Amino acid sequence: MEKDKVVLAFSGGLDTSICVPLLREHYGFDEVVTVAVDVGQPEGEVQRATEMGRMLADRHYTIDVKEVFVSDYIVPSIKANGSYEGYPMGTALARPLIAEEIVRVAEKEGAGAIAHGCTGKGNDQLRFDFIFRAAGYEIVAPMREMNLTREWEIRYAEEHDIPVSVAKDRPYSIDENCWTRSIEGGMLENPAHHPPEDIYAWTVAPEDAPDTVECVEIEFEKGVPVALNGEMLSGLTLIRRLNLIGGRNGVGRNDMIEDRILGLKAREIYEHPAATVLLAAHRDLEHLVLTRHELAFKRIVDERWSELGYMGLVHEPLFHALNAFINTTQERVSGTVDVGLYKGSVRVLGRSSLSGLYSDDLVSFDSCALDQSHAVGFSNYYGLQARLLKSLKKQ
Ligand code: ARG
Repeated sequence: MEKDKVVLAFSGGLDTSICVPLLREHYGFDEVVTVAVDVGQPEGEVQRATEMGRMLADRHYTIDVKEVFVSDYIVPSIKANGSYEGYPMGTALARPLIAEEIVRVAEKEGAGAIAHGCTGKGNDQLRFDFIFRAAGYEIVAPMREMNLTREWEIRYAEEHDIPVSVAKDRPYSIDENCWTRSIEGGMLENPAHHPPEDIYAWTVAPEDAPDTVECVEIEFEKGVPVALNGEMLSGLTLIRRLNLIGGRNGVGRNDMIEDRILGLKAREIYEHPAATVLLAAHRDLEHLVLTRHELAFKRIVDERWSELGYMGLVHEPLFHALNAFINTTQERVSGTVDVGLYKGSVRVLGRSSLSGLYSDDLVSFDSCALDQSHAVGFSNYYGLQARLLKSLKKQ
């Protein structure tokens, strides 16, 4: 292991770009290797990271993990109805995978340390550090350690011939992968400030969406979405298509106050059209095929899964145990859900499954398959203890 070589998690933005000279000049590393991990951020961004990495670092890697991100992180999240404080997690899902890829490069390069550009205020530092520490690496985080201002960063970048044009006209901090897009910072930090329309890239404003309902049919196999409107698709293609469909109907916007791991409250804005539609459809299908007891217990499991997922604690043994339970329940979550998208809303219009526990023959008002008079006996015992207590109180 070379003590003088460091591998940097690289996005090509202002922060990680100035990290390259900082790691040499301020921290004294001889060799800086940059790694950009493609989890479905805009193509231009990946390209820019590749160009900047090649220009600034001693060696650069761009690694495409989009398919793995979908199969190993997004799919389990769908099965777990993964959402934190009411929004579908995305950044949180991508961080552990990005970190594992960085570790792989660090091992290959024989580097002694890993660096990242996370600040000391957010969640990502913890999600990254957890994986890097578990792999035994020393962590260098210049943004967190040096307490730099944006002006200083821009000046330092200019002194080192790092192009900052993009950074200057991008007042927000945006994180994007194929599942969610998040926008924070700048004037959005005032939670009372109404978000300007131009921060959104995936969705139209609900009021500008078409005046007609767009119907979509989603087919699930064992909890996994496999087809859209009857067409079998890979997970990544299905999500991308549904992001377009949902987005043009104004579906999947979220403006919220979120509790970060450190306890700070933050104003966060999200776009996640496909996630909104798929989670609504998946939850609905679960209600058709799972028993009442499974559903009640799974709600608790899903909540704990989401909390651990948000914290990036993917190696926590409880996380694996919860996944095992969730996977067992998903064996029967196969079927089709029809949803209607209309001006920002998602409505389930119909659902069907061969594993459905719904029986119209039993429940229908028009059927005699179940002898209703048997309910009288059940009713005699119903709420027995509460009834007894009530009569005691009367005496
Ligand atoms: N609050 C979210 C999370 O912690 C998203 C953060 C994304 N970062 C950003 N710079 N927009 O997962």
